[in-house]
Amino acid sequence: MNNLKITKTLQDYFFVLYVLAELGAREKTVKLSTKFLAEKLDLSQQTISRYLISLERIGWIRRTATREGSFIRITDLGDLQLRKVRAALNFIFERKPSPIIIEGTVFSGLGEGAYYVTREPYRKQFIEKLGFDPYPGTLNLKLTSEYDIQMRRELEVRSGIEIHGFSDANRTYGPVKCFLARVNGKEKGAVILALRTHYDSSVIEVIAPKHLRNVLGLKDGNRVRVEVFLEG
Ligand code: CDP
Repeated sequence: MNNLKITKTLQDYFFVLYVLAELGAREKTVKLSTKFLAEKLDLSQQTISRYLISLERIGWIRRTATREGSFIRITDLGDLQLRKVRAALNFIFERKPSPIIIEGTVFSGLGEGAYYVTREPYRKQFIEKLGFDPYPGTLNLKLTSEYDIQMRRELEVRSGIEIHGFSDANRTYGPVKCFLARVNGKEKGAVILALRTHYDSSVIEVIAPKHLRNVLGLKDGNRVRVEVFLEG
């Protein structure tokens, strides 16, 4: 973990320091008027003057006040504050997103899942893109809480793993979006969206290499917890 300790000092002075860095005060001494800094930071000149005095006192900058303006240079200690914030932001931007947890209740459908999952163009792509040959069928989960429905919406707006649609002599099969998932903490699988469009946003369907009802001992009405991985 790379948690940033958000001290009072950092809260109070970081953005003034940031602006000074933006203006080149990390690399060399820069000449700046309080008027210019005040405009840049949307503060009064008086406030800026106070900030600069404080920054000097805590050792983040070195400063000589002259009639032409202030000559300012960020110190090693000031530089360290900038680096700490940079490292913390890098950590946030680069870490893997944590999985989305969706819980739902098992229910039986019309037995159409098996038909769709076994269409060869779909199946081929599942094997290629998800890394498993799905059991012929989908485990349907009814979402009951607002939170779970909201989590499903989160999935709708994400790109996921795309399974292309196709056509045969009779009809067209639409594109499908998948997310790798873990079911009840142990079984590998994937959530699939829009395989069949007649389900509303309170249902998710899960495919898996194994027959989940068997391996997890599931019956209609049982609660299932799905960890959905977003990074593909
Ligand atoms: O329409 P319904 O979901 O009831 O049937 P299906 O999609 O054709 O799937 C056949 C059966 O296998 C259903 O009882 C599903 O719940 C179950 N299933 C499962 O346990 N594990 C899977 N990986 C896929 C389907």
